[in-house]
Amino acid sequence: MAEQVPLDFLGDLRRTHSCGQLRATDVGKRALVMGWVHRRRDLGGIIFIHLRDRDGITQIVFEADIDPAIHAKAELLRSEYVVGVEGKVVMRSTDTINPNIITGEVEIVVDKVWIFNESRTPPFPMDEADNINEDARLKYRYVDLRRPSVQKNMILRSKLSFVVRKVLFDMGFLEIETPVLTKSTPEGARDFLVPSRINPGQFYALPQSPQIFKQLLMVAGYEKYFQIVRCFRDEDLRADRQPEFTQIDLEMCFPQQDRIFEVIEPLLVEVFKEAGFTIEAPFPRITYAQAMSSYGIDKPDLRLPPFHQVNDLFTLESNLYTGDLPLVAIHIPKVGSLSRKERDDLKAFGQTLGLRVFDDAKRLERDFPAEMAKVRERVGTAEEDLLIMASWAGEPEGHLPEQTVFKACGQLRLEAARRFNDRHQLLDPKVFKMLWVADFPMFEWSAEDKRWVAAHHPFTSVHDEDIEKLTTDPARCRAKSYDIVLNGVELGSGSIRIHRRDVQSKVFSALGFSEEEAKRRFGFLLEALEYGAPPHGGIALGLDRLVMILCGLTSIRDVIPFPKTAKGTDLMCDAPSTVPDKNLREIHIAVRVPQVKPPVS
Ligand code: AMO
Repeated sequence: MAEQVPLDFLGDLRRTHSCGQLRATDVGKRALVMGWVHRRRDLGGIIFIHLRDRDGITQIVFEADIDPAIHAKAELLRSEYVVGVEGKVVMRSTDTINPNIITGEVEIVVDKVWIFNESRTPPFPMDEADNINEDARLKYRYVDLRRPSVQKNMILRSKLSFVVRKVLFDMGFLEIETPVLTKSTPEGARDFLVPSRINPGQFYALPQSPQIFKQLLMVAGYEKYFQIVRCFRDEDLRADRQPEFTQIDLEMCFPQQDRIFEVIEPLLVEVFKEAGFTIEAPFPRITYAQAMSSYGIDKPDLRLPPFHQVNDLFTLESNLYTGDLPLVAIHIPKVGSLSRKERDDLKAFGQTLGLRVFDDAKRLERDFPAEMAKVRERVGTAEEDLLIMASWAGEPEGHLPEQTVFKACGQLRLEAARRFNDRHQLLDPKVFKMLWVADFPMFEWSAEDKRWVAAHHPFTSVHDEDIEKLTTDPARCRAKSYDIVLNGVELGSGSIRIHRRDVQSKVFSALGFSEEEAKRRFGFLLEALEYGAPPHGGIALGLDRLVMILCGLTSIRDVIPFPKTAKGTDLMCDAPSTVPDKNLREIHIAVRVPQVKPPVS
């Protein structure tokens, strides 16, 4: 900062308007506005600045003719200086009206100016320009958050949270808080642990979700609970995963699955309305089994059509598939014909998934004209659509080998859509396709642990008619669980819970927990089930993911005020960091890794 800028005090100055407020009807009034210098244009005898606050931008004019001292002060202003100005609202001449800003018809010709603070040159442009280095954005997050395009997202997030609270409160839900320093909760990720100073050698866990507490609130008779709540999971991060994230969490007494849907559907309709979009309820519903056999994934993106199994249209002698394993026709609309290279690349991608890919539909039509006509009829392809057939290349794999094939086809379907999206906006972010997926399997086989693990969490009810299969056929045991999916993103997940102690014990034993281990980890819940636990169930939606999609974005980092990097670090405050030995001794911790960074004092 070359020149010494004399700074002013705020004193008892008070704004008369925000920077987004003035209109033609205000012409002639006096206005006092405050904000940040967004842009400055110096035309010699006249200086224009765009003054910005949360509400918008107003053009400010400093004329040397009116007051040379004020004009001289305006010459000191630079990007992001914090100022207050007072003057007269005037109409702009017709040729200078700016239709891009809401205050664009008017400007303030100022006769007073206060400079409250200077600013170093911002580390990146404040304008809408994308492609700013994300590390720089995260390091100077307070500057980044000030950019109008980012503020817009944060403001929408706040409004949506408010709508959620209002809708749920009107439906009779109570917002009740649950602890952050607690015991391990079973959502399948690793816990963040917090050592206890007063209980040496013991740890709290941060909650992966309020799951157990909300169940206890049902046992306690609160009937309808919700919370907009922070959850913590130590897992590998992705664009839609953060180590701390926010859930819209709810639980009800005496619900069937439909009662939960009846809460979530109008809730989402209102949330979308607040964001300016209309969605229709009820949302379509399919089972997990249907999702797998039509989309090869448990979170189908309905902006694309399903694929179709077509084994019945071809004999085994066709040599297109082997044994019982599926032959699948994948159809991507309006892609047009692919170049040789595009076809080869897509085929190679399918092969890496273990598929045999028949990418040359023309050739198939030559070899199997009658069969392919039937395929086209089933799939419903048009001339300009892409049609790929795929089957399994090797030996059957996994506990449910047909699902292994469907999953690979699902990946190929999505990859093809992504690669050719630009040809026909297949994945239009402004088209919202909601879907309920229900009846998930109760268990998943963990290849790592070589045992069955809960597909949702271990408190999920099994379908009444599948209780017997708990021990005999866990792979085909269906749970009373459901996901809400939006455009291929898992938005939320929930279930009807187990409310009987005996059933809960059975499920724990199917999961391979000994009675002792179950007691050690979840004893308090098991005990609570013995004190008049009502039938109950609920769901949790990922607020960050919801806001991300409504903002048309693809990373939840862009809708979280202070997010972590993919490595789980906070570049702004440099967390996590080492701590001085004294602090470690207090909490009875000895660190085993060599010091990575010098301790912060
Ligand atoms: P689940 O673990 O499926 O269910 O989580 C519910 C929803 O939370 C969001 N979510 C995440 N968002 C961002 N970053 C993460 N790391 C992350 N993990 C999950 C997703 C997900 O659908 N207690 C149960 C809910 C219940 O049964 O009521 C639970 O937490 O949008």
